[in-house]
Amino acid sequence: MLAHDAVQRNLQTLAARGVEFVDPGEGYLACGWIGKGRLAEPPEIVSAALRMLAPADSPLRGRRVLVTAGPTYEDIDPVRYIGNRSSGRMGFALAAEARRRGARVTLVAGPTRLEPPAVDEVVRVRSAADMHAAVLAAADSVDVVIMAAAVADYAPADPAAQKVAKQAGPLMLTLERTPDILGELGQARVRRASGGPILVGFAAETADLIPRAREKRIRKGLDLIVANDVSRDDAGFDVGTNAVTLIGEGRQRDVPVQSKERVASIVLDEVEDLMRTPAAAPTRV
Ligand code: CTP
Repeated sequence: MLAHDAVQRNLQTLAARGVEFVDPGEGYLACGWIGKGRLAEPPEIVSAALRMLAPADSPLRGRRVLVTAGPTYEDIDPVRYIGNRSSGRMGFALAAEARRRGARVTLVAGPTRLEPPAVDEVVRVRSAADMHAAVLAAADSVDVVIMAAAVADYAPADPAAQKVAKQAGPLMLTLERTPDILGELGQARVRRASGGPILVGFAAETADLIPRAREKRIRKGLDLIVANDVSRDDAGFDVGTNAVTLIGEGRQRDVPVQSKERVASIVLDEVEDLMRTPAAAPTRV
């Protein structure tokens, strides 16, 4: 007991000097018991170290950020699905950069070949419905939501339980709308009329980029939209570079082609600006 008190006193002294502690993890212990006492998970230790090394003046430091990344897959039957070309790279770069700036990051990732970066929490999902549930479960407790995922707008209305065999003639699939996750978050913020997380969306377009992105930002009630011309070879899906235009309330910034890591950093500069000037926040529909 005396030793325990002494340890507690030492810990308090160290905490007062700015030393941050990562608590032990829970689970199977080397001695065979189950409980608290395991080495904390390495990503948790790295996160704590990065938080301490983060720029002291970043408004993201210690704040909670939710990032979505990658495609969603909508099952037709047990072996086939409807997907899209998103690799998850842009969302992963945003999640890694937010963490580098000291944020506590939850990453909700669709099915991707790339490994997600080590952030505080990674939630793997498959379909738009899964992503909807995961985002809504976390959205109330975060300061910023960045939806970089390419969420399917339609899913098979009635996925077959068994593999669909081919037949003579064409096959008709009935698709139904998936929930608009970002649109719902925007509407919820309007209903609450005060606060709510900063909302950032992407507009992946192949024509009329800026007008469509502007319209989407207003329709979904977003603080910032990243307009992304995905018809270019050096931008958009499954390449290491991107070129975008950032559109907010009364502001627009062209970001010429560069690595997705650099683009992520510029997007987060804009998010930090929004955090510093809450009065400049969104057009609410
Ligand atoms: N998004 C979402 N839920 C969906 C579809 C899209 O949250 N079901 C998000 C995307 O992650 C992105 C933004 O909304 O940040 C815009 O996505 P996009 O597919 O371009 O917008 P849509 O509303 O689907 O527009 P449209 O199909 O009319 O182009």
